[in-house]
Amino acid sequence: MSILLFGPPGVGKGTQSELLSKNLKMKHISSGDLFRKAVKEKTQLGLKAKSYLDSGKLVPDEIVIGMIGEVFGDLKGQEFILDGFPRTTPQAEALEALMEEKNVSAKKAVFLHVEQAALFRRLTGRRSCPSCNAVYHIDSKPPKKDGVCDSCGANIIQRSDDNPDVIGTRLEAYERSTSPLKEYYKKKNRFVEVNGAGEVNEVFERILGAIS
Ligand code: AP5
Ligand code: MG
Repeated sequence: MSILLFGPPGVGKGTQSELLSKNLKMKHISSGDLFRKAVKEKTQLGLKAKSYLDSGKLVPDEIVIGMIGEVFGDLKGQEFILDGFPRTTPQAEALEALMEEKNVSAKKAVFLHVEQAALFRRLTGRRSCPSCNAVYHIDSKPPKKDGVCDSCGANIIQRSDDNPDVIGTRLEAYERSTSPLKEYYKKKNRFVEVNGAGEVNEVFERILGAIS
């Protein structure tokens, strides 16, 4: 079963997607990871997206929709977990059209929620692998060797948008543009809400319960 995963910055979308994709053999598609890769490689897409990522604003819909369309072209029937897309109503509508065209569906739209103070703690303490996208936290999930990714051995970094000013802009963008999608998926009978507080494995079990 393919699923859509939503939630504010730092709620645990990437962390849970990693577990879901390994356990349920689904392809993890993260729009944020795709943009960061494009920025790092200085592609046309990366050049267009960079200023939005740096400031915490949403990348314009037509750019995001074009990028996800390309990813869908390579799916070849594989089930997927979409992390961070759609984030606006036009993106959700474009996704519906894309899924129809490719004859695939995502039965559940899972919204994770956590109180705001915890989001700040999670984001300011996060460290990320720029090579394989593994996610760490200085308190709750430090790498085995300081500064080095357990999975691929690359040097881990702090994301440039994980600073308090930009975090504020990202949270506002979520409330303004993405929260309304709850109603959108309620109307389609696909909405489920999952408490993202607590241990990573507890949250994972809750998600499995919600999508079964
Ligand atoms: P994106 O990369 O998607 O960022 P985000 O939505 O802000 O979410 P994050 O990746 O910051 O958080 P997460 O929920 O994945 O949390 P994580 O698992 O890492 O997007 C970045 C930018 O790209 C956007 O600002 C925008 O500019 C652009 N963009 C992307 N998609 C777009 C779209 N569709 N439209 C327009 N623009 C778009 O966890 C966070 C930390 O918490 C980690 O340290 C982790 O170890 C820790 N943690 C996780 N779970 C727990 C737990 N249960 N307990 C304790 N700690 C935990
Ligand atoms: Mg993420």
